[in-house]
Amino acid sequence: MKKKVLVTGSEGFIGSHLVEGLLRKKYNVTALVLYNSFSDIGWLKNIKKNKKLKIVFGDLTSFDLIKNISRNCEKIFHLGAQISIPYSYKSPDAFLNNNVKGTINILQAAKINKVKKVIVTSTSEVYGSAIYTPMDENHPMNAQSPYSASKISADKFSESFALSFDLPVIIARPFNNYGPRQSTRAIIPTIIRQLLSNSKINLGNINTSRDFVFVEDTVDAIIRLSNSKYKNAEVFNICSGRSIKVSEIVKLISKMLKKKSEIVIESKRRRPKKSEVNLLLGSNKKIKNKIKWKPKTNFKAGLEKTIKWFQKENNIKLYPTTDYNL
Ligand SMILES: NC(=O)c1ccc[n+]([C@@H]2O[C@H](COP(=O)([O-])OP(=O)(O)OC[C@H]3O[C@@H](n4cnc5c(N)ncnc54)[C@H](O)[C@@H]3O)[C@@H](O)[C@H]2O)c1
Repeated sequence: MKKKVLVTGSEGFIGSHLVEGLLRKKYNVTALVLYNSFSDIGWLKNIKKNKKLKIVFGDLTSFDLIKNISRNCEKIFHLGAQISIPYSYKSPDAFLNNNVKGTINILQAAKINKVKKVIVTSTSEVYGSAIYTPMDENHPMNAQSPYSASKISADKFSESFALSFDLPVIIARPFNNYGPRQSTRAIIPTIIRQLLSNSKINLGNINTSRDFVFVEDTVDAIIRLSNSKYKNAEVFNICSGRSIKVSEIVKLISKMLKKKSEIVIESKRRRPKKSEVNLLLGSNKKIKNKIKWKPKTNFKAGLEKTIKWFQKENNIKLYPTTDYNL
């Protein structure tokens, strides 16, 4: 029988897909959902009831709770974090508390409970804009936003726990993800959502380029990493090795939806100039060579799946507005 695993950020975009992936593989999943007084379980609502899924409300910043729920867990998949870069300009301390303190709590609990593998989810934002391409795991880190600074710090604490206490931790570093259930704060959902109701779409900087991976491929990479022999805070990029400009994505989605689009640039959607990450283009050589992972979904096929999901009435109604929010 597969042992128990803990997933943090389980009700979020990537976390909910990961929970589904783990249940398909017959793991017993304890899913941490950020406590709220509405008993809202986020995207876990979309997942069929399953005896192997146990939902726990709580907060990463509460050490006692994290220690209790990770007891007898074989693995921890740590995805819980504040992820909105615009919100990180307004409330950097929330990023320190949730992302840094939250990760330290996970590491401490894993150490006490002798957890066999901890996967800490990093982000390509820790690199800042590319100094060279493709960006491998040795690319310098550059904290261009408080979000990035908090994730760099979380990665470094993970490294320190591996070096100081021999904690078996791996740092999974996804580049930009896309797919069903993503928030319209992210670029692909905002383009799709706006184009489904208007031909005019409001965007920030359309000249930035990103390296996109379909969410189910990221889930596959994360699960494979958790089964691998690697530890010592070894870092693995999860990326496609290609990048595409936002303006090109707009053209592609407009064509797929058979809609003309008119782009309106809104300054409130732009990052401050020096905080803007102009180019992310990763190297997936290491993850390909060491754990035989490569993305299965090409960009167009992934976009088709994402658009189809957003077009369903039950899904689009969960995104009632095309307004900008943090
Ligand atoms: N989405 C991407 O493109 C992307 C790219 C690279 C890395 N990542 C990383 O992947 C992880 C998941 O991202 P996502 O896109 O699914 O984001 P998301 O916002 O959909 O999910 C994050 C979840 O973490 C939870 N959370 C935040 N603070 C918490 C706390 N104190 N206690 C308990 N739960 C808390 C939130 O409630 C949310 O459901 C994050 O660590 C993010 O940094 C995401």
